[in-house]
Amino acid sequence: MTVHTDLAKTKINKEIYGHFAEHLGHCIYGGIYVGEDSQIPNVKGFREDVVGALLDMKIPLLRWPGGCFADTYHWKDGIGPRQQRPSMVNIHWGGVTEDNSFGTHEFLDFCKLIKAEPYINLNVGSGTVQEASEWVEYVTSKNISPMTDLRKKNGQEEPWNVKFWGIGNENWGCGGNMTPEYYADLYNRFASYCGGNLYRIAGGPNVDDYNWMDVLMKKTTRHRHLVQGVSLHSYTFTTSWEDKGSATDFDESGWFADLKNTLKMETLIQEHSKIMDKYDPEKKIGLIVDEWGNWFNVEPGTNPGFLYQQNTLRDALVAGINLNLFNNHADRVAMANIAQAVNVLQSVILTKEDEMVLTPTYYVFKMYSVHQDATLIPTDLKCENYEFNGKSIPAVNASASTKDGVVSVTFCNLNPNKKESIDLTLAGQEFKSASGQIITSKNMNDCNDFGKDEIVKINSFEVKKPKNGKLSIDLPAKSVVLIQLK
Ligand code: AHR
Repeated sequence: MTVHTDLAKTKINKEIYGHFAEHLGHCIYGGIYVGEDSQIPNVKGFREDVVGALLDMKIPLLRWPGGCFADTYHWKDGIGPRQQRPSMVNIHWGGVTEDNSFGTHEFLDFCKLIKAEPYINLNVGSGTVQEASEWVEYVTSKNISPMTDLRKKNGQEEPWNVKFWGIGNENWGCGGNMTPEYYADLYNRFASYCGGNLYRIAGGPNVDDYNWMDVLMKKTTRHRHLVQGVSLHSYTFTTSWEDKGSATDFDESGWFADLKNTLKMETLIQEHSKIMDKYDPEKKIGLIVDEWGNWFNVEPGTNPGFLYQQNTLRDALVAGINLNLFNNHADRVAMANIAQAVNVLQSVILTKEDEMVLTPTYYVFKMYSVHQDATLIPTDLKCENYEFNGKSIPAVNASASTKDGVVSVTFCNLNPNKKESIDLTLAGQEFKSASGQIITSKNMNDCNDFGKDEIVKINSFEVKKPKNGKLSIDLPAKSVVLIQLK
């Protein structure tokens, strides 16, 4: 592998390390927010342990309130005195009653506590242009108006600084079952009235729906100032949508299939980028992968509508691979948000009453935080294949960046049976020392669990000194490794 430090130029936005929190299962209630009267230690109702863990992981951005929930959400129900807020039925996620005790103020207070940029998703599916534009005004306006008066009455004198606004979610599906032509026209209409210096994100395609991307780009870029980003949703399934397999109970065929499917993200980014290049050759419009990650069957005995799943070393590899791919395409991928932050799908945190578990995925985000706002270094990687049952995939996946004179290279060894030896050539810069960190474990389905010792976490990793611009590294089987060079 050659690391071309002399060719580094593209910024890896910290927002690529973003997260997503929906009103779904126990992501918000129980996971993030327990209310001020809870026995669980909290600051203004927000779990202290979760706040501390997210700060340590350096969470840069949080998307809210959905997901499918966003296109059912009426923001005015979630402001003002809590006991006067109306409730609603969460039609997509378990049909539970949502009491709206976590609303705009709570979300923005939480973002302030965890030092993350907020990203709010507006309701296009069941909302109106007026409702959306009033939400933007309520949150961001400095002027005197009924909306800003209402905000002040609710205790927030100054506007919040919210730059990222999504206009609808999955409008090809739960967000209104629209055609791309119809949605693109609606997007232009909503975006016209959600003004100001905002970063507006259009609801983009599902996986490889290239026609959706083409129609959306064609119609929205006619009014170029109205669109700053287009979303892409793509989850990883080991088998099929109907039977997604178990998060923990799998053998090598489940390991191989999951990693092979994860690598498809590269093709998706390349193909969607080609379409975006036709309408935006200067790459000004960001590809926003605002939902990604492993989606398995729910844990036995849990509510099927709550999407609660455990998280193993396999998830660590899936996170590491995806983040390397996003880094390597940072010229187009401006933001990405793993689904979801706490207790839902591929979470970084699981909670059970007052207990908290940090998952293998958490440790990957913590390890990879060195890439946030760093400059991408192009790399050439030639490696052998990992073969299983007559199929093969590249055994190693990597990305590199530089920040403050330190070069960081992250590797994933996808092979669960064999170490991979890497000869690193460091072009363009002299290095005197190298250090390393590793995430691995004895078994591919090892996970961290409540009441048990933590087994999948970051450990230090011995690396030799670089000599004459070369460094040899042995990546242990099924591992995620960070090498830093100075
Ligand atoms: O993350 C769970 C759901 O997956 C989201 O609500 C939706 O946007 C997607 O289909």
